[in-house]
Amino acid sequence: MTKIPVFTDDPGWHGKRLKEAFAVRGYEVVFISLKDCYFNLTTGHSGLVIPGFDQLPPIAFVRGVPGGSLQQVIARLDILHALEALGVKVYNDGSAVERTVDKAMTSFLLHQHGVLTTSTWICESRHVAQAVIERESAQAPLVIKPLFGSQGQGVRLIKQGDAFPVPMERYVDGLYYLQTYIDSGEGAWHDHRVFVINGKAVAAMVRHGASWVNNVALGGRCEKIAHDGELGALAEAASRAVDINYCGVDIIRDAQGKLYVLEVNSIPAWKGLQAVTELDIAQALVDDCLEQCRA
Ligand SMILES: Nc1ncnc2c1ncn2[C@@H]1O[C@H](COP(=O)(O)OP(=O)(O)O)[C@@H](O)[C@H]1O
Ligand SMILES: [Mg+2]
Repeated sequence: MTKIPVFTDDPGWHGKRLKEAFAVRGYEVVFISLKDCYFNLTTGHSGLVIPGFDQLPPIAFVRGVPGGSLQQVIARLDILHALEALGVKVYNDGSAVERTVDKAMTSFLLHQHGVLTTSTWICESRHVAQAVIERESAQAPLVIKPLFGSQGQGVRLIKQGDAFPVPMERYVDGLYYLQTYIDSGEGAWHDHRVFVINGKAVAAMVRHGASWVNNVALGGRCEKIAHDGELGALAEAASRAVDINYCGVDIIRDAQGKLYVLEVNSIPAWKGLQAVTELDIAQALVDDCLEQCRA
């Protein structure tokens, strides 16, 4: 059986599903941490060491890029880029992961491609941030988010008159990512997650949050909704804007019914979505990945 590395530090439910889905197509999954891969740049060697692989695999599936120091994270992404340079189909590829793990670049690309997203300002300058907060919070609250956040961590509201965020506080870390708050309904907060594979929306759900932060990791309750129409089309446009094989797109609807893309996830969880979807998401991912590799 051909072996496929799935890069993850915590295989869990998603790892199990991917393992089963690859096995159905005759592939054996090996879980590997990107921390354990390394470069060996000696003559006669491909340059890359993936533990457990004497030969490079046809495909590598990315389920997690662990955090670390800046140089560690860069080296982990280098592994993905190097695999691609050596002819391995990396799913999602390193550049797509870079573009989306970074909320600033995602927001810029959405804006550049005319995909409706909320007004956003990203700056290092305390003075610029202060001016934005003073001006904008007079109209509507702002959301501040960490650039590399996930699962709703560090996402918070800034209302008019609130204290200025402490520049070196953990989730600010010297950078202000500020965004207009979209009120999806006080007390009935919700947003949408749309799963897009190879440019097509394949599943969607509403997430009902216990607060305005609707992430499943924070207890957001999942409910199935149709993935066609305006919602699906917007998610597909977001996927095109960041140029990615597959993704989970977060979309919020304002009181007037207008939809805005909040972010694009290149390593989305799909356990909550799978619970309300007939499509076997892991199998759809594996099949697309094998198809892309053949292409
Ligand atoms: N501009 C916003 N307006 C209203 N709610 C927001 C906004 N930005 C984020 N949220 C809420 O916070 C959640 C997490 O934000 P998101 O940008 O998706 O970051 P994360 O990577 O942490 O999931 C969203 O799913 C949504 O419920
Ligand atoms: Mg999100």
